Amino acid sequence: MPNASSRIRGILPSGKDGWEVHFTAHARKEAGEDIIMLSVGDHDFPTPAETVEACVTALREGHHHYTELAGLPRLRAAMAKISTRATGVATGPEDVVATPGGQAALYAAVQGVLDPGDHAVVVAPYYATYPGTFRAAGADFSVVETEARNGFQPDAEAVRAALRANTRAVLINSPNNPTGAVYTRRSLEALAALCVERDLWLLSDEVYWTLGGEAHLSPRALPGMVERTLVINSMSKSHGMTGWRLGWLTGPASFIALAIGLNLVTTYGLTDFVSRAAIEALENDYGVAEIAARYAARRTAFLDALRGQNDLVVRGSEGGIYAMVDIRAVEAHCEKFAWALLDAEKVAVMPGASFGDAAKGHIRISLCQPEPVLREAAARLRRFASEYKKKVA
Ligand SMILES: Cc1ncc(COP(=O)(O)O)c(C=O)c1O
Repeated sequence: MPNASSRIRGILPSGKDGWEVHFTAHARKEAGEDIIMLSVGDHDFPTPAETVEACVTALREGHHHYTELAGLPRLRAAMAKISTRATGVATGPEDVVATPGGQAALYAAVQGVLDPGDHAVVVAPYYATYPGTFRAAGADFSVVETEARNGFQPDAEAVRAALRANTRAVLINSPNNPTGAVYTRRSLEALAALCVERDLWLLSDEVYWTLGGEAHLSPRALPGMVERTLVINSMSKSHGMTGWRLGWLTGPASFIALAIGLNLVTTYGLTDFVSRAAIEALENDYGVAEIAARYAARRTAFLDALRGQNDLVVRGSEGGIYAMVDIRAVEAHCEKFAWALLDAEKVAVMPGASFGDAAKGHIRISLCQPEPVLREAAARLRRFASEYKKKVA
Protein backbone atom coordinates (compact mmCIF):
# COMPACT_ATOMS: atom_id res chain seq x y z
CA MET A 1 0.00 0.00 0.00
CA PRO A 2 1.29 3.53 -0.73
CA ASN A 3 1.74 5.72 2.35
CA ALA A 4 -1.26 7.27 4.07
CA SER A 5 -0.94 11.02 4.61
CA SER A 6 0.92 12.22 7.68
CA ARG A 7 -2.23 14.17 8.54
CA ILE A 8 -4.37 11.08 8.91
CA ARG A 9 -1.58 9.07 10.51
CA GLY A 10 -1.15 11.78 13.11
CA ILE A 11 -4.73 11.91 14.37
CA LEU A 12 -4.56 8.91 16.69
CA PRO A 13 -1.18 8.49 18.35
CA SER A 14 -0.18 4.89 18.92
CA GLY A 15 0.37 3.46 22.37
CA LYS A 16 -1.44 3.72 25.68
CA ASP A 17 -4.42 6.07 25.76
CA GLY A 18 -5.75 5.69 29.28
CA TRP A 19 -8.80 3.65 28.27
CA GLU A 20 -7.26 0.29 29.22
CA VAL A 21 -9.23 0.00 32.49
CA HIS A 22 -12.48 0.64 30.62
CA PHE A 23 -11.82 -1.88 27.85
CA THR A 24 -10.73 -4.58 30.30
CA ALA A 25 -13.82 -3.97 32.46
CA HIS A 26 -16.03 -4.03 29.39
CA ALA A 27 -14.60 -7.37 28.25
CA ARG A 28 -15.04 -8.85 31.73
CA LYS A 29 -18.64 -7.63 31.88
CA GLU A 30 -19.36 -9.14 28.47
CA ALA A 31 -17.93 -12.41 29.82
CA GLY A 32 -20.55 -12.35 32.57
CA GLU A 33 -18.94 -10.59 35.54
CA ASP A 34 -21.19 -8.27 37.55
CA ILE A 35 -19.22 -5.07 36.97
CA ILE A 36 -20.61 -1.58 37.54
CA MET A 37 -19.49 0.46 34.53
CA LEU A 38 -18.87 4.07 35.48
CA SER A 39 -16.25 4.63 32.82
CA VAL A 40 -18.21 5.90 29.80
CA GLY A 41 -20.49 8.83 29.14
CA ASP A 42 -23.49 7.65 27.18
CA HIS A 43 -27.04 7.72 28.47
CA ASP A 44 -28.34 4.45 29.92
CA PHE A 45 -31.86 5.37 28.71
CA PRO A 46 -33.30 5.66 25.20
CA THR A 47 -34.10 8.82 23.26
CA PRO A 48 -37.46 10.35 24.32
CA ALA A 49 -40.35 8.48 22.69
CA GLU A 50 -41.75 11.65 21.06
CA THR A 51 -38.48 12.18 19.19
CA VAL A 52 -38.40 8.55 18.07
CA GLU A 53 -42.02 8.85 16.85
CA ALA A 54 -41.22 12.06 14.98
CA CYS A 55 -38.42 10.22 13.19
CA VAL A 56 -40.59 7.23 12.30
CA THR A 57 -43.29 9.56 10.97
CA ALA A 58 -40.74 11.50 8.90
CA LEU A 59 -39.37 8.26 7.50
CA ARG A 60 -42.87 7.01 6.61
CA GLU A 61 -43.77 10.37 5.06
CA GLY A 62 -40.94 9.94 2.58
CA HIS A 63 -38.33 12.35 3.90
CA HIS A 64 -35.51 10.38 2.32
CA HIS A 65 -33.68 13.03 0.35
CA TYR A 66 -30.73 15.40 0.37
CA THR A 67 -31.12 18.37 2.68
CA GLU A 68 -29.66 21.88 2.49
CA LEU A 69 -25.93 21.83 3.22
CA ALA A 70 -26.24 24.05 6.29
CA GLY A 71 -29.24 22.10 7.59
CA LEU A 72 -32.96 22.29 6.76
CA PRO A 73 -34.09 25.92 7.17
CA ARG A 74 -36.47 24.98 10.01
CA LEU A 75 -33.70 23.01 11.72
CA ARG A 76 -31.33 25.99 11.56
CA ALA A 77 -34.09 28.25 12.86
CA ALA A 78 -34.77 25.87 15.78
CA MET A 79 -31.04 25.63 16.56
CA ALA A 80 -30.72 29.42 16.40
CA LYS A 81 -33.59 29.76 18.84
CA ILE A 82 -31.88 27.37 21.27
CA SER A 83 -28.61 29.27 20.83
CA THR A 84 -30.42 32.49 21.68
CA ARG A 85 -31.67 30.80 24.84
CA ALA A 86 -28.36 29.10 25.69
CA THR A 87 -26.08 32.05 25.03
CA GLY A 88 -28.37 34.99 25.76
CA VAL A 89 -27.45 36.56 22.43
CA ALA A 90 -30.01 37.10 19.66
CA THR A 91 -29.06 34.44 17.10
CA GLY A 92 -30.49 33.97 13.61
CA PRO A 93 -30.40 30.93 11.30
CA GLU A 94 -27.52 32.55 9.39
CA ASP A 95 -25.40 32.34 12.58
CA VAL A 96 -25.62 28.52 12.84
CA VAL A 97 -24.60 25.53 10.76
CA ALA A 98 -25.98 22.08 11.54
CA THR A 99 -23.41 19.32 11.87
CA PRO A 100 -23.44 15.58 12.58
CA GLY A 101 -22.84 15.95 16.33
CA GLY A 102 -20.90 18.33 18.50
CA GLN A 103 -17.68 16.63 17.43
CA ALA A 104 -18.22 17.72 13.82
CA ALA A 105 -18.99 21.25 15.05
CA LEU A 106 -15.69 21.22 16.92
CA TYR A 107 -13.93 19.92 13.82
CA ALA A 108 -15.47 22.74 11.75
CA ALA A 109 -14.42 25.34 14.34
CA VAL A 110 -10.82 24.11 14.47
CA GLN A 111 -10.56 23.76 10.68
CA GLY A 112 -12.15 27.16 10.33
CA VAL A 113 -9.85 29.23 12.53
CA LEU A 114 -6.45 27.51 12.36
CA ASP A 115 -4.11 27.20 9.41
CA PRO A 116 -1.45 24.49 9.47
CA GLY A 117 1.27 25.58 11.86
CA ASP A 118 -1.02 27.94 13.80
CA HIS A 119 -1.25 27.52 17.54
CA ALA A 120 -4.11 27.16 20.00
CA VAL A 121 -4.38 26.92 23.77
CA VAL A 122 -6.52 24.16 25.25
CA VAL A 123 -7.66 24.37 28.83
CA ALA A 124 -7.34 21.02 30.61
CA PRO A 125 -8.67 18.61 31.73
CA TYR A 126 -10.35 18.26 28.37
CA TYR A 127 -12.47 15.94 26.28
CA ALA A 128 -10.41 13.14 24.74
CA THR A 129 -10.90 14.10 21.07
CA TYR A 130 -9.42 17.60 21.35
CA PRO A 131 -5.77 16.78 20.57
CA GLY A 132 -6.68 14.69 17.51
CA THR A 133 -8.95 17.46 16.24
CA PHE A 134 -6.04 19.93 16.30
CA ARG A 135 -3.67 17.42 14.74
CA ALA A 136 -6.18 16.80 11.91
CA ALA A 137 -5.91 20.52 11.12
CA GLY A 138 -2.10 20.42 11.19
CA ALA A 139 -2.27 22.89 14.06
CA ASP A 140 -0.13 23.08 17.12
CA PHE A 141 -1.59 23.39 20.62
CA SER A 142 -0.48 23.93 24.20
CA VAL A 143 -2.31 22.55 27.18
CA VAL A 144 -2.94 24.83 30.14
CA GLU A 145 -3.87 22.89 33.23
CA THR A 146 -6.46 24.08 35.70
CA GLU A 147 -5.88 23.36 39.37
CA ALA A 148 -7.80 20.73 41.30
CA ARG A 149 -7.61 22.86 44.46
CA ASN A 150 -9.40 25.69 42.59
CA GLY A 151 -12.20 23.36 41.56
CA PHE A 152 -10.68 23.11 38.05
CA GLN A 153 -11.52 26.73 37.22
CA PRO A 154 -9.44 28.18 34.35
CA ASP A 155 -6.85 30.85 35.08
CA ALA A 156 -6.66 33.51 32.36
CA GLU A 157 -3.13 34.47 33.41
CA ALA A 158 -1.95 30.89 32.85
CA VAL A 159 -3.58 31.00 29.40
CA ARG A 160 -1.86 34.34 28.71
CA ALA A 161 1.51 32.81 29.60
CA ALA A 162 0.94 30.07 27.00
CA LEU A 163 0.12 32.47 24.14
CA ARG A 164 2.52 32.71 21.21
CA ALA A 165 2.81 35.10 18.29
CA ASN A 166 0.89 32.58 16.14
CA THR A 167 -1.83 31.70 18.67
CA ARG A 168 -5.24 32.07 17.06
CA ALA A 169 -7.65 30.39 19.46
CA VAL A 170 -8.41 29.22 22.97
CA LEU A 171 -10.60 26.15 23.52
CA ILE A 172 -12.64 25.71 26.68
CA ASN A 173 -15.43 23.38 27.77
CA SER A 174 -17.99 24.21 30.44
CA PRO A 175 -19.78 22.35 31.97
CA ASN A 176 -16.64 20.30 31.72
CA ASN A 177 -15.91 16.76 30.72
CA PRO A 178 -14.23 15.18 32.66
CA THR A 179 -14.32 17.31 35.82
CA GLY A 180 -17.96 18.44 35.91
CA ALA A 181 -16.65 21.95 36.70
CA VAL A 182 -18.93 24.79 35.63
CA TYR A 183 -16.79 27.83 34.84
CA THR A 184 -17.76 30.87 36.87
CA ARG A 185 -18.64 34.27 35.43
CA ARG A 186 -15.36 35.58 36.84
CA SER A 187 -13.30 32.88 35.11
CA LEU A 188 -15.11 33.40 31.80
CA GLU A 189 -14.89 37.21 31.98
CA ALA A 190 -11.13 37.04 32.46
CA LEU A 191 -10.73 34.64 29.52
CA ALA A 192 -13.03 36.77 27.35
CA ALA A 193 -11.08 39.94 28.17
CA LEU A 194 -7.87 38.19 27.18
CA CYS A 195 -9.37 37.03 23.87
CA VAL A 196 -10.51 40.58 23.09
CA GLU A 197 -7.15 42.05 24.09
CA ARG A 198 -5.17 39.59 21.96
CA ASP A 199 -7.71 39.29 19.13
CA LEU A 200 -8.23 35.55 19.61
CA TRP A 201 -11.08 33.20 18.79
CA LEU A 202 -12.70 31.54 21.76
CA LEU A 203 -13.93 28.05 20.93
CA SER A 204 -16.50 27.29 23.57
CA ASP A 205 -17.66 23.69 23.85
CA GLU A 206 -21.06 23.93 25.52
CA VAL A 207 -22.51 20.50 24.73
CA TYR A 208 -23.51 20.10 28.41
CA TRP A 209 -25.28 23.48 28.55
CA THR A 210 -28.52 22.08 29.99
CA LEU A 211 -26.72 20.07 32.65
CA GLY A 212 -24.97 22.78 34.63
CA GLY A 213 -27.52 23.23 37.37
CA GLU A 214 -27.75 27.03 37.42
CA ALA A 215 -28.63 29.18 34.39
CA HIS A 216 -26.03 28.50 31.72
CA LEU A 217 -23.51 31.26 31.05
CA SER A 218 -21.92 31.30 27.62
CA PRO A 219 -18.84 33.47 27.01
CA ARG A 220 -20.58 34.51 23.77
CA ALA A 221 -22.79 36.70 25.95
CA LEU A 222 -19.82 38.69 27.33
CA PRO A 223 -18.76 42.10 25.97
CA GLY A 224 -16.91 41.97 22.65
CA MET A 225 -17.35 38.21 22.32
CA VAL A 226 -20.09 37.73 19.72
CA GLU A 227 -17.66 38.33 16.87
CA ARG A 228 -14.95 36.01 18.24
CA THR A 229 -16.78 33.12 19.91
CA LEU A 230 -17.65 29.86 18.21
CA VAL A 231 -20.03 27.79 20.32
CA ILE A 232 -19.97 24.02 19.87
CA ASN A 233 -23.36 22.55 20.59
CA SER A 234 -25.07 19.19 20.41
CA MET A 235 -28.33 17.37 21.01
CA SER A 236 -26.48 14.30 22.29
CA LYS A 237 -26.65 15.06 26.01
CA SER A 238 -29.41 17.68 26.28
CA HIS A 239 -31.98 15.78 24.20
CA GLY A 240 -30.79 12.22 24.82
CA MET A 241 -29.67 11.74 21.22
CA THR A 242 -26.05 10.58 21.25
CA GLY A 243 -26.44 8.07 18.43
CA TRP A 244 -28.42 10.38 16.16
CA ARG A 245 -25.42 12.60 15.50
CA LEU A 246 -26.84 16.09 15.68
CA GLY A 247 -25.00 19.21 16.64
CA TRP A 248 -24.38 22.72 15.51
CA LEU A 249 -21.84 25.50 15.47
CA THR A 250 -22.86 29.05 16.35
CA GLY A 251 -20.73 32.03 15.35
CA PRO A 252 -20.57 35.21 13.27
CA ALA A 253 -22.68 34.82 10.09
CA SER A 254 -19.70 35.53 7.79
CA PHE A 255 -17.71 32.74 9.44
CA ILE A 256 -20.65 30.33 9.34
CA ALA A 257 -21.11 31.02 5.59
CA LEU A 258 -17.56 29.71 5.11
CA ALA A 259 -17.98 26.75 7.47
CA ILE A 260 -20.94 25.52 5.39
CA GLY A 261 -18.32 24.67 2.75
CA LEU A 262 -17.02 21.93 5.06
CA ASN A 263 -20.44 20.26 4.91
CA LEU A 264 -20.22 20.36 1.11
CA VAL A 265 -17.00 18.38 1.12
CA THR A 266 -17.68 16.07 4.08
CA THR A 267 -21.29 15.18 4.93
CA TYR A 268 -23.15 16.87 2.07
CA GLY A 269 -25.82 17.73 4.60
CA LEU A 270 -27.51 15.82 7.39
CA THR A 271 -29.91 12.87 7.17
CA ASP A 272 -33.37 14.07 6.10
CA PHE A 273 -35.65 12.15 8.51
CA VAL A 274 -33.21 12.57 11.42
CA SER A 275 -33.21 16.34 10.83
CA ARG A 276 -37.00 16.39 10.95
CA ALA A 277 -37.06 14.51 14.25
CA ALA A 278 -34.47 16.97 15.55
CA ILE A 279 -36.69 19.90 14.58
CA GLU A 280 -39.54 18.44 16.64
CA ALA A 281 -37.23 17.71 19.56
CA LEU A 282 -35.75 21.23 19.52
CA GLU A 283 -39.04 23.05 19.04
CA ASN A 284 -40.74 21.07 21.82
CA ASP A 285 -37.76 20.56 24.17
CA TYR A 286 -38.43 16.82 24.19
CA GLY A 287 -36.69 15.27 27.18
CA VAL A 288 -34.60 18.33 28.08
CA ALA A 289 -36.00 19.09 31.54
CA GLU A 290 -36.36 15.40 32.45
CA ILE A 291 -32.79 14.55 31.46
CA ALA A 292 -31.38 17.55 33.34
CA ALA A 293 -33.39 16.62 36.45
CA ARG A 294 -32.30 13.00 36.19
CA TYR A 295 -28.59 13.85 36.13
CA ALA A 296 -28.97 16.40 38.92
CA ALA A 297 -30.65 13.75 41.09
CA ARG A 298 -27.96 11.20 40.23
CA ARG A 299 -25.18 13.60 41.10
CA THR A 300 -26.78 14.35 44.44
CA ALA A 301 -27.38 10.65 45.14
CA PHE A 302 -23.79 9.69 44.36
CA LEU A 303 -22.16 12.59 46.19
CA ASP A 304 -24.42 12.13 49.25
CA ALA A 305 -23.52 8.45 49.38
CA LEU A 306 -19.83 9.35 49.32
CA ARG A 307 -20.06 12.01 52.01
CA GLY A 308 -18.29 11.24 55.30
CA GLN A 309 -15.45 9.26 53.67
CA ASN A 310 -12.89 11.96 54.31
CA ASP A 311 -10.21 10.38 52.15
CA LEU A 312 -12.33 10.81 49.04
CA VAL A 313 -12.55 14.49 48.13
CA VAL A 314 -15.01 15.66 45.50
CA ARG A 315 -13.73 18.35 43.12
CA GLY A 316 -15.61 20.16 40.33
CA SER A 317 -18.62 17.85 39.86
CA GLU A 318 -21.13 20.69 39.56
CA GLY A 319 -22.53 19.86 36.12
CA GLY A 320 -22.34 17.65 33.06
CA ILE A 321 -22.57 13.90 33.48
CA TYR A 322 -19.44 13.23 35.51
CA ALA A 323 -18.14 13.50 39.03
CA MET A 324 -14.46 13.84 39.84
CA VAL A 325 -13.07 12.35 43.03
CA ASP A 326 -9.64 13.14 44.43
CA ILE A 327 -8.19 9.85 45.69
CA ARG A 328 -4.70 11.08 46.60
CA ALA A 329 -5.24 10.54 50.33
CA VAL A 330 -5.63 6.84 49.52
CA GLU A 331 -3.30 6.28 46.57
CA ALA A 332 -1.23 8.82 44.65
CA HIS A 333 -1.39 6.87 41.40
CA CYS A 334 -4.90 7.05 39.95
CA GLU A 335 -4.41 4.32 37.38
CA LYS A 336 -3.22 1.91 40.07
CA PHE A 337 -6.26 2.89 42.14
CA ALA A 338 -8.64 2.28 39.21
CA TRP A 339 -7.22 -1.19 38.47
CA ALA A 340 -7.34 -2.20 42.14
CA LEU A 341 -10.92 -0.89 42.49
CA LEU A 342 -11.95 -2.93 39.46
CA ASP A 343 -10.36 -6.07 40.87
CA ALA A 344 -11.56 -5.69 44.46
CA GLU A 345 -15.01 -4.18 44.02
CA LYS A 346 -15.89 -4.62 40.35
CA VAL A 347 -16.38 -0.92 39.70
CA ALA A 348 -14.95 0.52 36.48
CA VAL A 349 -13.90 4.18 36.54
CA MET A 350 -11.56 6.28 34.42
CA PRO A 351 -8.19 7.28 35.90
CA GLY A 352 -8.07 11.08 35.88
CA ALA A 353 -4.57 11.05 34.37
CA SER A 354 -6.19 9.96 31.09
CA PHE A 355 -7.45 13.55 30.79
CA GLY A 356 -4.23 15.41 31.50
CA ASP A 357 -1.99 16.27 34.42
CA ALA A 358 -4.55 18.41 36.27
CA ALA A 359 -6.74 15.38 36.88
CA LYS A 360 -3.92 13.11 38.05
CA GLY A 361 -4.72 11.55 41.42
CA HIS A 362 -8.44 11.65 40.61
CA ILE A 363 -10.96 9.22 39.21
CA ARG A 364 -13.78 10.20 36.85
CA ILE A 365 -17.17 8.75 37.65
CA SER A 366 -19.80 8.62 34.93
CA LEU A 367 -23.31 9.29 36.21
CA CYS A 368 -24.86 7.30 33.36
CA GLN A 369 -26.36 4.71 35.70
CA PRO A 370 -29.58 4.69 37.75
CA GLU A 371 -29.45 6.14 41.27
CA PRO A 372 -29.46 2.75 43.12
CA VAL A 373 -26.47 1.62 41.06
CA LEU A 374 -24.64 4.86 41.80
CA ARG A 375 -25.35 4.47 45.53
CA GLU A 376 -24.05 0.92 45.43
CA ALA A 377 -20.96 2.07 43.54
CA ALA A 378 -20.35 4.80 46.13
CA ALA A 379 -20.64 2.21 48.94
CA ARG A 380 -18.12 -0.05 47.20
CA LEU A 381 -15.80 2.90 46.62
CA ARG A 382 -15.94 3.91 50.29
CA ARG A 383 -15.26 0.37 51.43
CA PHE A 384 -12.42 0.01 48.97
CA ALA A 385 -10.79 3.27 50.07
CA SER A 386 -10.90 2.29 53.76
CA GLU A 387 -9.59 -1.24 53.14
CA TYR A 388 -6.87 -0.04 50.79
CA LYS A 389 -5.57 2.45 53.33
CA LYS A 390 -5.49 -0.22 56.04
CA LYS A 391 -3.56 -2.57 53.78
CA VAL A 392 -1.01 0.06 52.77
CA ALA A 393 -0.58 1.33 56.38
C1 LIG B 1 -17.01 17.92 26.02
C2 LIG B 1 -17.57 17.23 24.84
N1 LIG B 1 -17.58 17.85 23.67
C3 LIG B 1 -18.08 17.28 22.57
C4 LIG B 1 -18.60 16.00 22.62
C5 LIG B 1 -19.12 15.42 21.35
O1 LIG B 1 -20.45 15.09 21.44
P1 LIG B 1 -21.31 14.68 20.19
O2 LIG B 1 -20.42 14.55 19.00
O3 LIG B 1 -21.96 13.39 20.56
O4 LIG B 1 -22.30 15.76 20.03
C6 LIG B 1 -18.60 15.30 23.83
C7 LIG B 1 -19.12 13.92 23.91
O5 LIG B 1 -19.04 13.24 24.89
C8 LIG B 1 -18.07 15.92 24.97
O6 LIG B 1 -18.04 15.32 26.17
